Amino acid sequence: MNDHLFQKDFITTQDWSVDDLRTAIDLAVQLKGQRHAGELHDQILRAKTLYMLFFEESTRTRNSFETGMTQLGGHGVYLTPAATQIGHGENARDTGRVLSGFGEGIAIRDCRTGIGQDYLYEMAEHADAPIFSMQDDIDHPCQAMADLMTLVERFGSDLSGRKFVISWTHAPKYVRPLSVPQSLVMLMPRFGMDVTLAYPEGYHLMPDIMDTARANAEDAGATFTETHDMDEAFADADFLYPKSWGPIMVTEEQDEVEAMAAKHTDWRATTERMALAKDDAVYMHCMPVDRGYEADDEVIDGPQSVIYQQAENRLHIQKALMALTMGGEF
Ligand code: CP
Repeated sequence: MNDHLFQKDFITTQDWSVDDLRTAIDLAVQLKGQRHAGELHDQILRAKTLYMLFFEESTRTRNSFETGMTQLGGHGVYLTPAATQIGHGENARDTGRVLSGFGEGIAIRDCRTGIGQDYLYEMAEHADAPIFSMQDDIDHPCQAMADLMTLVERFGSDLSGRKFVISWTHAPKYVRPLSVPQSLVMLMPRFGMDVTLAYPEGYHLMPDIMDTARANAEDAGATFTETHDMDEAFADADFLYPKSWGPIMVTEEQDEVEAMAAKHTDWRATTERMALAKDDAVYMHCMPVDRGYEADDEVIDGPQSVIYQQAENRLHIQKALMALTMGGEF
């Protein structure tokens, strides 16, 4: 058991040291190796329970957490506001105290703008069990850690000096939260990567997150750059993460969102743009990806794409985080 990390919340990577994040990645790589070798590790969280509370829908997050608990010997319980008394107004304090009296961990997805992360921290204050973010309005730390693990596996643990590009892309379907780009701009500079953030006017991130990203880059001796030119961002990049997010700092009104997005249909990951990057550059996306809008199929399914490794690594990194914080025996 890891005493140091026992019962530590995982709401943002900012609350964890670089050394502790590396410990999680090392364990995730170990668990992944065992899984691929067909070795069971179902004693690690034997008979322990994780409550998974979703305010929004999910494919990867729900199934990777629930599968992870099964593989570690425990159980994941899927909850929604409508399936609990949260839907009738029971607050985070009472919900957290009750659930942590039953089980050993609580994971929450709450992307409500201006509410989500506050809800997680409120539950963390009162629950006697670690709280995991399954994405909120500000951060998606499990996704960012799975992304980092994917890069470590492919390029090694020293990623300093590599150019990591997060670029806005056009997508018509729904207003995606800011949490993925924000989690990436905060995390990647801490591992020495030179981060470039590209977006059209109106798609800026939260000012305090930008301040954190700049401070993290400075502390690590890395750079953090902004541009409104997607081609400029792609030039000589090592890691490309083109994805859509909503103009949430400006509006969430559907008509206005669609009108803004319609002005930037050329913000798409194409094979021509990929050619601007380094020869061994990788194409990344957290998924779901809007094929034909955010990126061409040739890019998504091409040899530079690592999107399915990123998705699979959600399972392994979350198992590591749960094992470290929920009293895992290993
Ligand atoms: N990337 C991600 O969080 O996917 P889901 O919304 O399907 O969980």
